[in-house]
Amino acid sequence: MPDLTFNFFQHWYPISPIEDLDPARPTSVVLLGQRVVVWQSRSSNRYCVFRDQCPHRLAPLGEGRVDEKTGHLMCSYHGWQFDAQGVCTQIPQAEDPDLVTKNREHYCVTALPTQEANGLLWVWLDADSAAIAHAQPLPLSPQIDASRGFVWSSMVRDLEYDWQTLVENVADPAHVPFAHHGVQGNRDRAKPLPLQIVESTQERIEAISEGGFKTHITFTPPCHLEYAISLGGDRQVGLVTYCIPVSPGKSRIVAQFPRNFAQQLHRWTPRWWNHLAVRNSVLDGDMILLHYQERELQQRSQTQSWKTAYKLPTSADRLVIEFRRWIDQ
Ligand code: FES
Ligand SMILES: [Fe+2]
Repeated sequence: MPDLTFNFFQHWYPISPIEDLDPARPTSVVLLGQRVVVWQSRSSNRYCVFRDQCPHRLAPLGEGRVDEKTGHLMCSYHGWQFDAQGVCTQIPQAEDPDLVTKNREHYCVTALPTQEANGLLWVWLDADSAAIAHAQPLPLSPQIDASRGFVWSSMVRDLEYDWQTLVENVADPAHVPFAHHGVQGNRDRAKPLPLQIVESTQERIEAISEGGFKTHITFTPPCHLEYAISLGGDRQVGLVTYCIPVSPGKSRIVAQFPRNFAQQLHRWTPRWWNHLAVRNSVLDGDMILLHYQERELQQRSQTQSWKTAYKLPTSADRLVIEFRRWIDQ
């Protein structure tokens, strides 16, 4: 029997593009129902991710501050301090000056494995399996590669629907001309969108679409879903998404938008312009559809499966089917 257990906690997830983090300010973030704090110590120049609970009396460290003198993370409640490894370095209330040095292990905050790569900060949410973490490669995109002529922009946004709904939506290119008419598609030019499944295993679902520009779509569970679209010649444009489970009914998208042409235009286009003109409008276009779709599917799941709740007669829905099967497994 194949081992079908899948541990969502033992995977790498990007928290955010690094350019959106503030090194001067600790920030609380929720992933997989866990609160973590992202912060940068003055000495390391690298982001640390800790469980967002102070070991003293469990106050959120995301409300804390980076101390000007020590560069360590200071809890805002009683001023305990922690270094980049999560080791307690100061207890202002200690009568015995050796209290901290003698009991370092005892007053640690849990530090999680992290990496910085492709402009993203990555975290592994299971502190007890750091060895597995470092042996497992990050789900990086081959399109985020300046040495191959690619340029890209990025964004992160929290969404008011579930991770399942987010993945299903990104795996469904057929909605683009309609839900994103006038922003990223045109409903008058919609046509059949045959999707051919090349591979569908527990580790990877891959599809090819040739109805238009040749497009490769790859899902690497649990979060990495990527499009690589050939525009003819060597020109390629991509959509790299990381779909993050936040909590039931909430998700986060971390996205990168690579292409290997019009590099100069990319340098002239401010990031906020892309966010205003396209990126947020695309996510807004789906929002109300997904919010109610998700509620409806959830209500029906008491009595029926997606197989009868949905009607999926065309090959445009093939990736949705493969993703739902993956969840069922
Ligand atoms: S709860 Fe953090 S110092 Fe008291
Ligand atoms: Fe969409």
